[in-house]
Amino acid sequence: MTPLASKPVIGWEETRPVPHNHQFTPYLQARHGHLFMDDIDLAQLMLDSESIPGIGRHLGSPLEIIYLPIIRRKITQMRRIFAEVIADTGYQGQFHYAYASKANAAEEVIRTTLGAGAHHEMSSTVDVDIARLMIARGLLTPERMVICNGFKGAGTLYANNILRLKQEHDNLIPVVEDLGELAPLISSGLNFNVGLRQKCYGHHDNEADMDEANSRFGLDVADLWKASDYIQAAPNLQLKMYHAMVGSQILNREDFVNWLKPPIELYARLRQRHPSLSIFNFGGGMPVAMTLNFDFDYHAFVRLLLSTMQEVMSRYDVPVPDIMGEFGRYTTAEHGAHLFRIITDKENGSPRPWYIIDGSIMTSFPDSWALGEHFIVLPLNNLDQPFQQVQLGGITCDSDDVYPPKPSQSPLYLPVNTEELYIGFFSIGAYQEMLGGVKGSKHCVLPEANELIIDHPAGSSPQYTVISGQSASDVLRNLGYATPPAG
Ligand SMILES: Cc1ncc(COP(=O)(O)O)c(C=O)c1O
Repeated sequence: MTPLASKPVIGWEETRPVPHNHQFTPYLQARHGHLFMDDIDLAQLMLDSESIPGIGRHLGSPLEIIYLPIIRRKITQMRRIFAEVIADTGYQGQFHYAYASKANAAEEVIRTTLGAGAHHEMSSTVDVDIARLMIARGLLTPERMVICNGFKGAGTLYANNILRLKQEHDNLIPVVEDLGELAPLISSGLNFNVGLRQKCYGHHDNEADMDEANSRFGLDVADLWKASDYIQAAPNLQLKMYHAMVGSQILNREDFVNWLKPPIELYARLRQRHPSLSIFNFGGGMPVAMTLNFDFDYHAFVRLLLSTMQEVMSRYDVPVPDIMGEFGRYTTAEHGAHLFRIITDKENGSPRPWYIIDGSIMTSFPDSWALGEHFIVLPLNNLDQPFQQVQLGGITCDSDDVYPPKPSQSPLYLPVNTEELYIGFFSIGAYQEMLGGVKGSKHCVLPEANELIIDHPAGSSPQYTVISGQSASDVLRNLGYATPPAG
């Protein structure tokens, strides 16, 4: 079980050098003093990218890395785990992997999740436009389910856009958050499979607890039953999915399943009344390694979830449902890294030396200062040299632009030798970029870094795409300075 009380381990925690071949995560390894992401020498990207076939130019620092093979790997891994447990337990339902696009809506990410066979979950009107683009490119294929979460009241752009999308992609499931969302679906006359979202975010022991939860998402129990009856009465609607999301990054598998138990019981009763119901969607919450001491046992979680489903459904004498998850953080956290140079180390009588990076921690990883969230930080070079405990500072003038985040008890060690020292923040691929915004102008007018998209399809050599960051003129133009000053 996950040791919840232990401190997050965010990097190397010793003064001695990192041994050659030390494996930090399944994809991060120390080799002869450099840090490798699979077989990519990250220090070489910073020091000598000109010599890398397929890049051939200087990328400079800071640099964002988008490493697409990890997205495919995560999707394959979760589907394999469900397939194994389904085979072992004789579970009679199927597993459906959906990608929650709010975690990272970048084109290369959506293209990759769809290419890997994921269903697609969305939450806003522009998401619909993205889906339409993907349909036009043949990537969002007809058998793929599109699940429409989020607020979509009558007359909103999102509600109208969903009706439009339905005419291009039949396999669309609007998940009703609120009774008022049913009217546009009913009056459209289009035949819809529909989902109902239960208000259940957080920990609840029973139905009454769920009703008392202070959450703006989903229907309370009475409205859920009402909505199911309206759906049954509507000639063009069919109740297909029950949606119950209880949290995010839930580190304890027993908690995760226990929190789902009241919704599972409710699903069973709803299924007795509505035989068309066939999918239990637990939404997000699947945890992923944001730090180095992460040890969630996915197999054990899936086994517990499916055995709980079997037990509850047999008690109510209804068939087990198909299971869907909408994997946001799990799909995308680990594919993103952000690399920086240490531009100075400063001893000014503070408890630990300050290492200053050539970018901003708070604008690049907003959850770090806003929520005190931890990410993995490792040097890219000098791993074979002595380390010391340090603090990181961003280049902005903001006192919150620091790492570890202010309330943290986790120590951060980096090499003592800071000459041409580069570091990386890892597990930052979910939510951080979307929260910080793409392009635009940021705190202390720092321009956005170059981005390197790396793919490595099986059997071919790595493919690199460089997306240029912002120039000073871009930033100035965004801020209304029509004619940037020369020079
Ligand atoms: C409805 C819904 N599904 C899925 C997710 C993805 O959650 P996670 O990142 O925990 O997988 C979210 C996140 O907020 C959500 O609101």
